[in-house]
Amino acid sequence: MNEHTYPSTEISGWQDLTVGQMAARHPQSARVFETHGIDYCCGGKRSLREACEKLGLDLEMIRADLAEALRAAPLARETDWERATIAELIDHIQTDHHGFIRMEKPRLIALAHKVARVHGSRHPELEALAATVDDVFLELDPHLEKEERALFPAFRKWAQAAPGTPPDAAFAKHLKGLEEEHAGIGKMLETIQELTSGFQPPEDACNSYLALFHGLERLNADLHEHIHEENNILHARMARAVSAPIAPQSGPGPVTAIRNGDPAETCCGR
Ligand SMILES: [Fe+2]
Ligand SMILES: [Fe+2]
Repeated sequence: MNEHTYPSTEISGWQDLTVGQMAARHPQSARVFETHGIDYCCGGKRSLREACEKLGLDLEMIRADLAEALRAAPLARETDWERATIAELIDHIQTDHHGFIRMEKPRLIALAHKVARVHGSRHPELEALAATVDDVFLELDPHLEKEERALFPAFRKWAQAAPGTPPDAAFAKHLKGLEEEHAGIGKMLETIQELTSGFQPPEDACNSYLALFHGLERLNADLHEHIHEENNILHARMARAVSAPIAPQSGPGPVTAIRNGDPAETCCGR
């Protein structure tokens, strides 16, 4: 039994969470996991206790480190994007998600092709994996450009317009097209999950192989969050404003409410 004394933790219900769930719920915990070599991506389905036992780590010490990380960076990346302003939401998408894709693209493409070249004879699915990684980024490049050059500036302009100003109805068509592209990207991510057996590397995986699977899992998670925030929050706000009656200038209408960050009554059918 451990006899050390550590500060009490503040992670409620941690016993019921896997390390993957903890990293999702408390993003600050990811750095602690990385520091101690706890895999919260590929091995994210383990409980913290199981992960510590596997690595011979002191559970109480890890809990204390997690509590410290949460205290030091409270609520990091836990913004309620439904309540954020349009400008804040777009800044977040562009900086965090688009930035992440651009940062990871050269590394993941190079890794995918290298691993396919070296291990393709024993793992023939790696060739299809490298081709699918190429396809994802080929699809993402013009998609991000379209959002940043056309859609986001238009959203920002509309969000700054006078209360009651309806958005351009033509937006609805653009949103539909972008969401179809999101669906296509989602299908490619499913293919990547299948080809990597859910991001689980084989026994003979080298460090590059592990780095590729880890990177693809992070890309997968980030893209799902990214697309969720666009489809279900950003686009939904615009779609509601397009379909809603134009608000009278004298009273707060739907555009005003959205612009001020108030959550609308419904969101994506919920
Ligand atoms: Fe985007
Ligand atoms: Fe998008």
